[in-house]
Amino acid sequence: MLLDSHAHLDDKRFDRDRDKLIRELKENDVSLVINPGADVASSVRAVSLAEKYDNIYAAVGVHPHEAKAMDEDTIEILRNLAKKDKVIAIGEIGLDYYYDNSPRDIQKKWFREQIKLAKELKLPIIVHDRDAHKDTFDIIKEEKDENLTGVLHCYASSADMAKEYIKLGFYISFAGPITFKNAKTPKEVAKAIPLERILIETDSPYLTPEPHRGKRNDPVYVRYIAGIIAELKGITFEEVANATAKNAKELFNIE
Ligand code: NI
Repeated sequence: MLLDSHAHLDDKRFDRDRDKLIRELKENDVSLVINPGADVASSVRAVSLAEKYDNIYAAVGVHPHEAKAMDEDTIEILRNLAKKDKVIAIGEIGLDYYYDNSPRDIQKKWFREQIKLAKELKLPIIVHDRDAHKDTFDIIKEEKDENLTGVLHCYASSADMAKEYIKLGFYISFAGPITFKNAKTPKEVAKAIPLERILIETDSPYLTPEPHRGKRNDPVYVRYIAGIIAELKGITFEEVANATAKNAKELFNIE
């Protein structure tokens, strides 16, 4: 069975068929889905979905796009949400220098504050890094202690940096872009790092993998990420499905 370690099932694009989709996941070979938040409202929605469905777990956090709206009260709200059952991580948090929707110093401040919250609560982090590879790594390295672990979601940096993250105890997650024909780097990374450190995800409704590009993405398509990793590593689909599900359960402390 597959585990989708990152999907935004609370997104409004799932309003028309969310319930059916979630109820049919098991027969589509997807055992569990982790639904991260991107701001306070979506974190609350993620927690409600996790409370409603056995096969959904939630993460709570504020995405760098929304960092400019954060203050100490936001941290307190996240702290209370994170203590609920089935909240297994803080995320997605990080830095995004591609869109720069929040000023960079503000992004860095609230990335760090949310990491501190994760350490306090002994929860792993789900990290978003777009065109901010060095600052993201530097902050994680500075904050690293025995309580800090996590995953680099939709990993887009180099194989060398992936190895540095693995030395810090982190996992590397691949999404739809690894299936794209011109995606050289993620393919190299998947070959260069051990299966024991790999997670797979859809980031749905975004980042739809080949051969469904252009359509809405959903967690059932996580099979395409497993498929390409199996191909790249010369192992079976089942080996990738089992290992990545086991890795995610270890990281997020799910039975
Ligand atoms: Ni996401």
